[in-house]
Amino acid sequence: MTPTAKILLLGSGELGREFVISAKRLGCHVIACDSYPAAPAMQVADEAEVFSMLDGDALGRVIARHQPDFIVPEIEAIRTEVLADYEAKGFTVVPSARAAQLTMNRDAIRDLAARALGLTTSPYRYAESAEELRTAAAAIGVPLVVKPVMSSSGKGQSTVRDLADLDAAWDYAAAGMRGDRVRVIAEGFVDFDYEITLLTIRAQDGVHFCAPIGHRQERGDYRESWQPAAMTGAALAAAQDMARRVVDALGGHGIFGVEFFVKGDAVIFSELSPRPHDTGMVTLTSQALTQFDLHARAILGLPIPGMTQFGPAASAVILADRDAEDFSVSGIAEALAVPADHVDVRIFGKPVTRPYRRMGVALARAADAESARAAAINAAGCVRIVYGDKT
Ligand SMILES: Nc1ncnc2c1ncn2[C@@H]1O[C@H](COP(=O)(O)OP(=O)(O)O)[C@@H](O)[C@H]1O
Ligand SMILES: [Mg+2]
Repeated sequence: MTPTAKILLLGSGELGREFVISAKRLGCHVIACDSYPAAPAMQVADEAEVFSMLDGDALGRVIARHQPDFIVPEIEAIRTEVLADYEAKGFTVVPSARAAQLTMNRDAIRDLAARALGLTTSPYRYAESAEELRTAAAAIGVPLVVKPVMSSSGKGQSTVRDLADLDAAWDYAAAGMRGDRVRVIAEGFVDFDYEITLLTIRAQDGVHFCAPIGHRQERGDYRESWQPAAMTGAALAAAQDMARRVVDALGGHGIFGVEFFVKGDAVIFSELSPRPHDTGMVTLTSQALTQFDLHARAILGLPIPGMTQFGPAASAVILADRDAEDFSVSGIAEALAVPADHVDVRIFGKPVTRPYRRMGVALARAADAESARAAAINAAGCVRIVYGDKT
């Protein structure tokens, strides 16, 4: 059979793996790429390529060799100039090379959202030295959140509550920077009531929204998420309006994870990913079409007629706590026996563990979001990484 489409997936983690499954169900041929072999998405893809996606020459060679219909980034750390070159040559980058470029730099997407579109954000300044950070802090005040403009998963990010800690925050950010840009964003700390991800789909038949996803972060990484997050109608309408404006400004087809802080009825735009979002793993159990199905449909130009939500659901992550190659996973039976309307687990099959590395996720549905959260956390706690002798 001639495939529906040929997809080059850049990044092969757990989000990529679920996306490959969704794309394969629609008849696509998928080449999964990452910097290490046997990555989660490679386990289910048609072909795999192992190289650093920050190596522009290697990336260009792989695109040229496979001639994909769609280039689908799954991660931020990609030589995005190469994506722009290939887009100019007629290849389709999802959702667009510009979206990939703008969102890999916190300053670029913040300037678009706050300055060009006028969305409400926390007060912010940029700094390229410890001294400039002091000036920024004097203007914004404490508490202050300092983040490298190029970083993800909380790397190099810290909250400064006392100006005496500012130099340490600079040093920590400088050590956590990715790429060659020595620049941080200093943001006023938002004392939010809760934070959400609004999965927003830009498809051939318009812009669609999933029910808002609440989540809890620790050390810059998500620990649990639930859907729907309880929000007032006014707050949800404000978030949807902002999400629509920012995805329309970025253009292209695909799903976007748009992050907001909410305090009362005030909705503050934080950041977004032009791809499935880790907190959106809850959709593996909460919706008829998961965020991965929706991404695949949007990319392929298919319609999205409805968004069936099955009711309160939650996800909770399963983390490793050390470096190991020799390990196994146990406790799945106990996890699946946790009482709830529905419980499931996904084990990512990553070849090695690291401290805090996400190895799996537990999913649950229940009568209300609190019960679903409790069940997902309980199930995640049942799953144990058992380390072998060689660790
Ligand atoms: N200005 C802020 N005020 C309060 N909390 C923040 C702020 N910025 C980030 N955070 C917290 O840190 C988490 C990670 O920050 P984020 O900007 O989303 O970085 P990343 O790209 O690593 O996800 C957020 O989900 C939120 O919990
Ligand atoms: Mg984030």
